[in-house]
Amino acid sequence: MCGVTGNAQDGNYKVNDLQLKDNKRAQFVKESLKNLILSNEQIEKVGEAFKQEMSSALDEKTSSLQMENTYIPELPNGSEEGTYLALDLGGTNFRIILLELANGEFLKEDFKFYHISDEARLGCGIELFNYLAECVKDFMTLKNMPFDMKIPMGFTFSFPMKQHSLHSAELVTWTKSFNCPSVVGCDVVQLLQTSLRKHGMRNIEVLCILNDTTGTLVEGARLDAKTRIGMILGTGSNAAFLERADRVHHWEGERHGEKNVIIDIEWGAFGDKGTIDFIRTEHDKEVDNGSLLKRSFTFEKYISGKYLGEVVRVVLKSLCDKNLLFTKASKDLFPAPWKFGTDNVSHIEEDALNGCSNTSTVKVLDKFNYRFNIDYDEDDIKVIQYTTALVSYRAALLVSICTSVLLNRMTETDITVAVDGSVYKHHPRLKKWMVQLIKELSPEKNFHLMLAEDGSGKGAGLVSAIAQRINTRNVCITNGNHNNGHAMNGHGKEMNGLGKHMNGHHNGVVNGSNGIHNGH
Ligand code: BGC
Repeated sequence: MCGVTGNAQDGNYKVNDLQLKDNKRAQFVKESLKNLILSNEQIEKVGEAFKQEMSSALDEKTSSLQMENTYIPELPNGSEEGTYLALDLGGTNFRIILLELANGEFLKEDFKFYHISDEARLGCGIELFNYLAECVKDFMTLKNMPFDMKIPMGFTFSFPMKQHSLHSAELVTWTKSFNCPSVVGCDVVQLLQTSLRKHGMRNIEVLCILNDTTGTLVEGARLDAKTRIGMILGTGSNAAFLERADRVHHWEGERHGEKNVIIDIEWGAFGDKGTIDFIRTEHDKEVDNGSLLKRSFTFEKYISGKYLGEVVRVVLKSLCDKNLLFTKASKDLFPAPWKFGTDNVSHIEEDALNGCSNTSTVKVLDKFNYRFNIDYDEDDIKVIQYTTALVSYRAALLVSICTSVLLNRMTETDITVAVDGSVYKHHPRLKKWMVQLIKELSPEKNFHLMLAEDGSGKGAGLVSAIAQRINTRNVCITNGNHNNGHAMNGHGKEMNGLGKHMNGHHNGVVNGSNGIHNGH
């Protein structure tokens, strides 16, 4: 099962075997890259390690996975309504979003992107949070919203955190291209809330903090009630899923009879304790050594957009060094570390879809100033395509193994997996491979991979609405009033009121009459 090479009849399902004019060279290349191909035994061991690390983390034992309790015990039920601000921080750009919900549907989503400079991403954390608050102020100004306006906020913070409640979480470590060491261990909701207050926005209340995978799961569930898993395959990678609450031992504060709770796995760190070192190649070690966060986020370095291009570059470089690639080209043309982005991987892979053409690969090589028939020939193209396919297929396989472990953990047989992220959206074969591989790994499950775009933004609005619903319900329970229905309705009205307030005072703003947004 899950073997790597195949032929054209597989409908591009597998990686085409490498055939070169020079058969000996093909054999050498294949020999050099064979460690990128996982055996069935390794596949099983990765799945087993993931399963065990999940259980250990839930039992509060040593694990590379966080399995973080998000304190979100339910998915959207169609009653979500109100107007919310959302902050979405996770990449080099961050977004502020104004969302309006009614009957579980988005009426409006208005947003603006803000660039985060290197200084802010890699400097003192206080400055980063002050910058976030300045951007909120700018956004409110653009939307004619008074700074003292009372409005709930959802904070999508796509980094590993230790959550204490729905609205309190400490940063465990930065990932991707962020590294402001002084923020590690701090409550990021408090930092944000303090900065907002300091900048005059005293009435914005950060109701919830969530990860982009949680947002994707929640948005996925809004679109398709069978959604139980949210996944991001983008610059970073991670998944969240709906777990039985009785399996979750870490629970700060009171329980209120919750049956389920969303768990943020933080699978990017899978393997940080060495449990999957048996798949680690020399190339992976080299990528790790050159990365911002060494010896951390092992799994992410096999699968995510921040790293896939670099893995391919490092492997190609090793082939050059062995004189198996670009024998005629100048060494200066070869891209420097981290200069071969994952977009190139997707482009090269496009050729595999077009009857093994060369067009996209040639375009990529053009970008680096290589000249066909002078610096490289047909065989070089085939070696590049083969390498790119092997690295991509390994990523698809690893993600599929973990997805299948999650599916097999659930009692439901019909499950939708909501996915978002640049790698998932732009890699031409990844989704196809995943569907096939998950089918092979979880034959008894009927699953569906569904693109849930912008879960990181929309999810913040949905989770804010859910947070308000839960808060109201818990207050009612505490006060001895168990009439949830009334509590929710009453609450809904209150939120509607806020929505009306927004519309009444700033009509047209959320419609984007100033032309800033409408980006969906
Ligand atoms: C972060 C996760 C996030 C993922 C996708 C990872 O680097 O640790 O929290 O969900 O990227 O953005």
